[in-house]
Amino acid sequence: MTVPQDAAETAGPVLVMGAGLIGCYLGGRLHAAGVSVDFVGRPSVLQELAAHGLHLTDLTGGMWRVPASELRLHEDVPAGIRPALVLLCVKRPALAQTLQRLAQTLPRETPVLCWQNGLFPIDAATLASPQLHLLPAMVPFNVMRRGPGHFHQATAGQLAAQSAACLAPWQAVFQRAGLSLGLHADMRPVQWGKLLLNLNNPVNALSGLPLKAQLLDATHRRRYADLVTEALALLRQAHIEPYRVTPLEWDRFLRVLRLPTPLFRLIAFRMLRMDAHARSSMAEDLAAGRQTEIDDLCGEVVRLARSLGTQAPLNAAMVDAIHRLQNAGRTV
Ligand SMILES: NC(=O)c1ccc[n+]([C@@H]2O[C@H](COP(=O)([O-])OP(=O)(O)OC[C@H]3O[C@@H](n4cnc5c(N)ncnc54)[C@H](OP(=O)(O)O)[C@@H]3O)[C@@H](O)[C@H]2O)c1
Repeated sequence: MTVPQDAAETAGPVLVMGAGLIGCYLGGRLHAAGVSVDFVGRPSVLQELAAHGLHLTDLTGGMWRVPASELRLHEDVPAGIRPALVLLCVKRPALAQTLQRLAQTLPRETPVLCWQNGLFPIDAATLASPQLHLLPAMVPFNVMRRGPGHFHQATAGQLAAQSAACLAPWQAVFQRAGLSLGLHADMRPVQWGKLLLNLNNPVNALSGLPLKAQLLDATHRRRYADLVTEALALLRQAHIEPYRVTPLEWDRFLRVLRLPTPLFRLIAFRMLRMDAHARSSMAEDLAAGRQTEIDDLCGEVVRLARSLGTQAPLNAAMVDAIHRLQNAGRTV
């Protein structure tokens, strides 16, 4: 695809709402491609960015730096700001309050890409903030913090969003930033595909191990595969074909997870290409005493089962186990 050189300039300014892992990475990559970006975040993150600027890397060896002097950092949505696009990058527990704030400050019909994992309840959110144009979006890859101001894309994949006329020009902009953005008429199968992949998050959080070590353990892999198998059967019953987020069809993906570890290590070498210390965001949330996104992952599988008049006992047990830890305010 030929990318117009001036796409970034003509597309208009971007507002990153929630400068964390995803916000800093996506916003930073767009800034590095010439897009005008404003970041709204917590004081501690803003101080870090003001001291170190942004240092972005990816698994192919790509590196981008944005000096602190070029960053526009804010503790709240700046008055009078007119972004052409908002990247809403807060986690689910902060969503309702953040949408309310955006709705109070931004012009009607401002497009807002909602990058939260899980099945974003766009209808309910739109009812709560009808003046914004909310669009579900999906980040297929992991972003981790490697040091002050350093955000690393640890896995691969194509960004996805609900197709809408207002997003058509942004495909070229994301492409120019080296971030391919696929537009989908129906985001539900895409969101379910990412959700299935994320069913490893609670397994990882409960294992107490880094992701790589956990995936190299056959018992933990089987636990993950069992959760996906349970969800997949329900999705098929509901006639939902989840999007393939990895290079493998879901059934092959499950077979690979169930292989003996020496074979798994050989075949899944791409899946294992990750920082040896990386943990799931759920493990990080538990460690920091924050609320997790378990209700939006295994909880969605439980809700799907209920809607079909059946049960999802394995996913339900995960919801309970993570809630217990969350309520006790401690890690494994
Ligand atoms: N990280 C990944 O690799 C990844 C991959 C795919 C999808 N996702 C999804 O992307 C979403 C964001 O994840 P993340 O890992 O980037 O989360 P994160 O690192 O916690 O970033 C969110 C940031 O937004 C801040 N925030 C919350 N409300 C705010 C407000 N009103 N104003 C300013 N800042 C606010 C949060 O502060 P507090 O902590 O104080 O609330 C936090 O610093 C999640 O829903 C996750 O499921 C993440």
